[in-house]
Amino acid sequence: MNNPPEELTAGSESGAMKAMNKPLTRRKAWKALATHYTKLQKLHLRKLFAEDPKRGERLTAEAAGFFLDYSKNRITDETLKLLFALARESGLGAAKDAMFRGEKINLTENRAVLHVALRAPKGTSFTVDGRNVVPEVHAVLDKMADFSNRVRNGAWQGYTGKRIRNIVNIGIGGSDLGPVMAYEALKYYSDRAMTFRFVSNVDGVDFVEAIGDLDPGETLFIVSSKTFTTLETMTNAQSARAWLLKRLGGDAKAVAKHFVAVSTNAEKVSAFGIDTANMFGFWDWVGGRYSMDSAIGLSTMLAIGPENFRALLKGFHEMDEHFRTAPFERNLPVLMGLLSIWNNNFLGAHTVAVLPYEQYLKRFPAYLQQLTMESNGKSVTLDGKKVDYQTGPIYWGEPGTNGQHSFYQLIHQGTRLIPCDFIAFTHALTPLGAHHDILLANVFAQAEALAFGKTAAEVKAEGTPDWLVPHRVFEGNRPSNMILAERLTPEVLGNLVALYEHSVFTQGVIWQIDSFDQWGVELGKALAQGIVPELESKATLKHDSSTNNLIRRYWRLKEAK
Ligand code: F6P
Repeated sequence: MNNPPEELTAGSESGAMKAMNKPLTRRKAWKALATHYTKLQKLHLRKLFAEDPKRGERLTAEAAGFFLDYSKNRITDETLKLLFALARESGLGAAKDAMFRGEKINLTENRAVLHVALRAPKGTSFTVDGRNVVPEVHAVLDKMADFSNRVRNGAWQGYTGKRIRNIVNIGIGGSDLGPVMAYEALKYYSDRAMTFRFVSNVDGVDFVEAIGDLDPGETLFIVSSKTFTTLETMTNAQSARAWLLKRLGGDAKAVAKHFVAVSTNAEKVSAFGIDTANMFGFWDWVGGRYSMDSAIGLSTMLAIGPENFRALLKGFHEMDEHFRTAPFERNLPVLMGLLSIWNNNFLGAHTVAVLPYEQYLKRFPAYLQQLTMESNGKSVTLDGKKVDYQTGPIYWGEPGTNGQHSFYQLIHQGTRLIPCDFIAFTHALTPLGAHHDILLANVFAQAEALAFGKTAAEVKAEGTPDWLVPHRVFEGNRPSNMILAERLTPEVLGNLVALYEHSVFTQGVIWQIDSFDQWGVELGKALAQGIVPELESKATLKHDSSTNNLIRRYWRLKEAK
């Protein structure tokens, strides 16, 4: 592309792009929010709750499996009004429609962004370049289901005639984080007679430890890579191939029985030696970090079975429909996205802590890190101008209650403002005595403590000596969302992931950035490709003095061993 796409030019017909014409910080609603913030700055959640006894019931919304209590954010009705005005002024509605219409809203890669089509029910239509892609989506899903059934019921046998009992997914980024997260999240529903492993890191430890106790004759590798060129994945896949062939007698025909691929790149898959009949495809309109419900989810389907996988897709679709149709005022992803903008751009929070009070969601924060930060970690607008406001915050987190005994101290009493997303379920999948009541008591207590804190007067009244009082005061006024659902089912996991996907989209639209490219990962990749041969055999180094010195040191120590 020599020129930016036409949509970028002022006065374009694309609704999604029209809003870009006015810089964000010059928009009426943005300025109004800035003024509003100066008035609200000192206002405490204690006061807001005291003045409105129904606040905790009023500032809530419910849809697609989830109940969102956002009352413990530092907002008033006026804040919300202005945030909705900002969304309208930013063309959120039009941008949303453009995405669902299959427009090429990923401008820098000139691609449609249609992960919503991955979970569209049969018979519906989503078009890319005038072609309805839903039948293709279902053809792949059917092929995945057939394959999964054959592996799960033992009909698919390995090269030596053994049943497949171990599945190893090889992939990285979006081709790993979604599958790992979903496997852990839905372990309760998985076939416990099978073993699942995930290899992502190019550090050989990852592969060696993953396969150490596996029988190659019972092992199936899924090489998952959208591009089928990613260095880490290809290196691990080659090692897997060598490991398998060495142990199964060296006949290359064994590869077809023990390797399948998930990719958009049939040519490279076939060059690797995998029969393209055993390739599960997807499309360039699915971003890596939005692909866990495409064929990238093959390991998930193998673990939980096709029916549960379809329930997962149903959950995604429910949230898609809610996002597409609900008014902003009751739209969960829009609300969460706008509250994040408020916390980040006006209250000055730099991070968001995601705290699932559900052990099965232990990998959810890691999954969200790619979804949110690879999407919204951008510093130029769609038309290439440097932004003069903060964009994507840093996402991080751990399951509760573990985090409470680690970093929560800083959230409660540190100098930084850290908005929290608490995620909890009213029913445990594995009920055990009083565990679930204790777990839920903790999540409710944390949100309460963060919001209301404990004043010096309250601390003193407990008989605390004066010198200790400042140490025991909790300022409170720390914002949080409570995201509640009944139980963690495949459907609810779909609801949850789509909730965050669309919240990320909402924020990206307001910030006028391309949430669907990831150019920021390229430079390091390219430099590493150049350094690999330099480490393998000495060469004249042309890096900066620090990098040259590190490479020389590596050579020296490598030789010395
Ligand atoms: O790290 C960049 C990235 O392109 C991610 O966006 C992607 O999920 C990951 O690498 C893996 O890419 P692939 O699936 O093509 O191997």
